Amino acid sequence: MIRGPLRWTFGSQNLASSFGQKGLMIPSVQTGSPRTSRSRRLLLQYLRKSSSLSATAYSRTVQLPRPDGKLSPAFGKLWLRDNCQCSKCIHPDTKQRMVQSFSIPRDIDIVDAVVYQEQAINVEWSDGHVSCYPFSFLNRRMRNIPPRNPAKLGDIQWRPFETCTPGQEQYPTVSYSAVMANDKAVLEWLENIYRWGFCFVKDTPVDPQATEALLNRIAFIRTTHYGGFWDFTADLAFKDTAYTNEFLGAHTDNTYFTDPARLQLFHLLSHENGDGGASLLVDGFRAAKILAEENPGHAKTLRRLRQPAHASGNENHCITPQQHYPVFDRHIGMPLLFQIRWNNYDRSIKWDWSVDEQYEWYEAARHFDEILRRPDMEIWTQLEPGTALIFDNFRMLHGRSAFTGKRRMCGGYINNDDFLSRYRLLKFGREHVLNNLGNVKHSAPNPFFYI
Ligand SMILES: [Fe+2]
Ligand SMILES: [Zn+2]
Repeated sequence: MIRGPLRWTFGSQNLASSFGQKGLMIPSVQTGSPRTSRSRRLLLQYLRKSSSLSATAYSRTVQLPRPDGKLSPAFGKLWLRDNCQCSKCIHPDTKQRMVQSFSIPRDIDIVDAVVYQEQAINVEWSDGHVSCYPFSFLNRRMRNIPPRNPAKLGDIQWRPFETCTPGQEQYPTVSYSAVMANDKAVLEWLENIYRWGFCFVKDTPVDPQATEALLNRIAFIRTTHYGGFWDFTADLAFKDTAYTNEFLGAHTDNTYFTDPARLQLFHLLSHENGDGGASLLVDGFRAAKILAEENPGHAKTLRRLRQPAHASGNENHCITPQQHYPVFDRHIGMPLLFQIRWNNYDRSIKWDWSVDEQYEWYEAARHFDEILRRPDMEIWTQLEPGTALIFDNFRMLHGRSAFTGKRRMCGGYINNDDFLSRYRLLKFGREHVLNNLGNVKHSAPNPFFYI
């Protein structure tokens, strides 16, 4: 419904730059100011009334006018609000999503909207946010996707794992010298990572070369568009929020790759003239299990509906995975859940879904996000020079608190296949591994059960 009376003005303020629309004048919106003849109030027509969200007349969809005077196909309002392209919602440099998607009210509504010079639509939302959608953005996405029948999915099963709780006295730890000296200690290290999701390496020399050598005890380092072994300070050399000193919410890395890195290692080399920057780990498998217990339908939704992702912060790349992947990915042969892909910063705009699927996914994702933020899920530690942290990026979400001062951090990624090769060979021996090639039997003596 249009709630009023709202008035629109085309003020002198040019919002174009904040929407990244060079040369396009976007009207500023001021409630209570005089309405001018240049504005044209939209007719907002609602296709259907919501049956499941609430008993009131909230509608999930909106048809927007097109420059030819006709109405667009129905857009889901939550999707539209989540995909605002303004500079508060999408970082202008990194192109990463900054809007708190799962804090958007479930019944987000449009208070008012105007067409501006047949080029864009300015929308004022019930949460107070103002969005501008150029027709160049909307036109490409104007198509009705009919509701689909969800595939039948069985209950989720997990690969075996154990979980640490926040504040426990000791977390899995190995020593640098042992890992460097013998393969038995490497196996113990990899067991910890596989079983608990992470492991500290104490007495690591405060030196990049020594840290790189530590990673090489598992396998070679994966090179990405960020380089191979990294050694960086917060300078936004790479256009990614990870290279700033801002708070970073729990996420997994590389959702924009077909094959995300399996392991990630951080070693804080120095932190001068400031504080903060505590490291956050959240066990994604434990969170998924809680989600499935509290609402099995939500867990199935995160398995079924796939999301696109991208990394486009620097001019010379726009990386996307081969296909869209679900938040919970399952091994086809076993079939066990083996990977969590959760990165709201790098989630891109999904087009290929019906409005019902949109609301279904946002509801499930909102629940998962809420679980991830529970204090009893968050493992906070303060990294120190001399102690490296390595974790399983297929399972553990990581983040960090904001910090001041200058931090120097080094680390790197290791591929999934290389990690599993090293782990299985050390655990079972080469002969047993080779004898089981192709084995998808769901049992612990099978090296390929470890996924
Ligand atoms: Fe990250
Ligand atoms: Zn916005």
